[in-house]
Amino acid sequence: MNSSELRQSFFDFFADRGHTVVPSASLLPSSPNLLFTNAGMTQFVPILRGENKASNPSVTDTQKCIRAGGKHNDLEDVGFDTYHHTFFEMLGNFSFGDYFKHDAIAYAWEFLTVEMKLDAERLFITVFEEDDEAYDIWTKEIGVPADRVARIGAKDNFWSMGDTGPCGRCSEIFFDHGADVWGGPPGTPEEDGDRYIEIWNLVFMQYDRNEEGVLTPLPKPSVDTGMGLERISAVMQGVHNNYDIDLFKNLISVACRETGIVFGDSAEADVSLRVLADHLRSVAFLLADGVLPSNEGRGFVLRRILRRACRHGRLLGKQEAFIYKLVDALVKEMGGHFVELREMQGNIEQVIRIEEERFIKTLDKGLKLVEQAVSDAGEGGTIPGKTLFTLYDTFGFPTDLTADILKGSNIGLDMEGFESCMEEQRTRERAAWGGSGDASLPKARVEPG
Ligand code: SER
Repeated sequence: MNSSELRQSFFDFFADRGHTVVPSASLLPSSPNLLFTNAGMTQFVPILRGENKASNPSVTDTQKCIRAGGKHNDLEDVGFDTYHHTFFEMLGNFSFGDYFKHDAIAYAWEFLTVEMKLDAERLFITVFEEDDEAYDIWTKEIGVPADRVARIGAKDNFWSMGDTGPCGRCSEIFFDHGADVWGGPPGTPEEDGDRYIEIWNLVFMQYDRNEEGVLTPLPKPSVDTGMGLERISAVMQGVHNNYDIDLFKNLISVACRETGIVFGDSAEADVSLRVLADHLRSVAFLLADGVLPSNEGRGFVLRRILRRACRHGRLLGKQEAFIYKLVDALVKEMGGHFVELREMQGNIEQVIRIEEERFIKTLDKGLKLVEQAVSDAGEGGTIPGKTLFTLYDTFGFPTDLTADILKGSNIGLDMEGFESCMEEQRTRERAAWGGSGDASLPKARVEPG
C-alpha cells in the first residue's frame, strides 16, 4: 500500500464510523504561542476550548506539520535516525465531546489490527501512569496482555501542544520492528533504539493550561489522535526506515539523479540524501503556505532549513543550485492531495533557486572559515562567539548550521559570545536609525538551534 492509498484508507475507515473528512489547516497557525502547526489538533483549539462550536462532533484529516523549532523540534534528529522529519503528515481522528477513551482506543485497535491487518503481538501500548481507566480498557476490554501495556510518566504520556493550551493524558501505540533492529519497549533503557517505534498517539484532551501552568477542565472531554503517515507507511511497506517508503524513495532517487550519487554507496551520503528529501518537503510546503525566507521568525526557520539542505548538497559534491529541481518530483508525489503545492510550484521553484544561488556564493568562504576556526580551537576547544557571528552575519551561516557541520566533533560553540555580538549589532542598528523619531523596538528573532 503506498502512502497515498494509506491516507485514503484512514479517511474511509473513519468516515464509515461517522467522521467528517476535513482538509489540513495551513502550516501557519492562528495561535500566537505557536511558530508552526505542529499537530493535528492545532486548528481545533478554539473548538476544544469551547470558544467555537463544532459543526461536526467527530472529524478526521491529515495535517501538515512542521517540527523544526519551539516545544516540538525534531530538526537535529533528521537523517540520523529512521523516523524523524521536520515536515510530516499527521493522520488524526477527533471527537469534540462526542466519544472519549473507550471508542478512541477501540477505533485505533480496529484500524491497525483489522483494517491494516497488523499482527497484534507486534503492538505495544503505553498509558499515563495514573490512568487506570485507559489501562483497563486496553487490558480487559481489548485484551492486550499486561506485559505489553506500560504505565509511563507525564514526560511521554501527558501531551501538550505548547506551554499553554489544551492538553491531556495520552496512550501511545508502538510497533515492534523486530529483533533484528536494536532497541527496547518504552520505559526500558533501550527505548531510544529504532525497534519499538511510536506510531499512534491517542490524547484524551481534558484540560487547558494557562501561563501560570494551572490546569482548568475543558468544557467537554475530547479526543485528539495523531499517527504519522510516514511511520505507518513504513510499517505497512515492511521497511524499518521511514526514508525507505515509496514517497521518500522517489524523492531520494531524483536527488541521486541530480547529484550523481548512488544511494547505499556511503552511509554519509545517505544521510545527506535523506536530509535533502526531508528539508525539501518543509521548504516547499512552507513556501506554498506563504512563508518567505527572511532573517526573522518563520522566514528565518525556512531559510535555516534551506541552507542546511544546501550544505548537504555541497557535501554530495554539487557546486550549483539544484534543490529547486527536486520540487517537481515532490509535486508528483504529494500535489494530488495538497493542491497548494501544485498551484504554487512555479513560485516555490523560483524562490528556492534564488535562495540557493545567493547562499552558494558565500558557502565556500564560510566553510573555509569553519575549517580554520576548528583548527584554531583544537580538539575539545570552542569556536568563539565572534567567529560564529561573522559566519552568521557575513556568510549567512545560522548558528545551527555551524552546529550541524560540527556534529559528532568535540568542538563547542560559544553561544553566549554570539548572543552578545548580536546584541551589539542591534544596538548599532538602533543608534544608526535616526528616522521618524518613534522608539525603535528590538526585532523579534527566532533563537538559533
Ligand atoms: N496531538 C498529539 C500529538 O501530536 C496527538 O495527535 O502527538
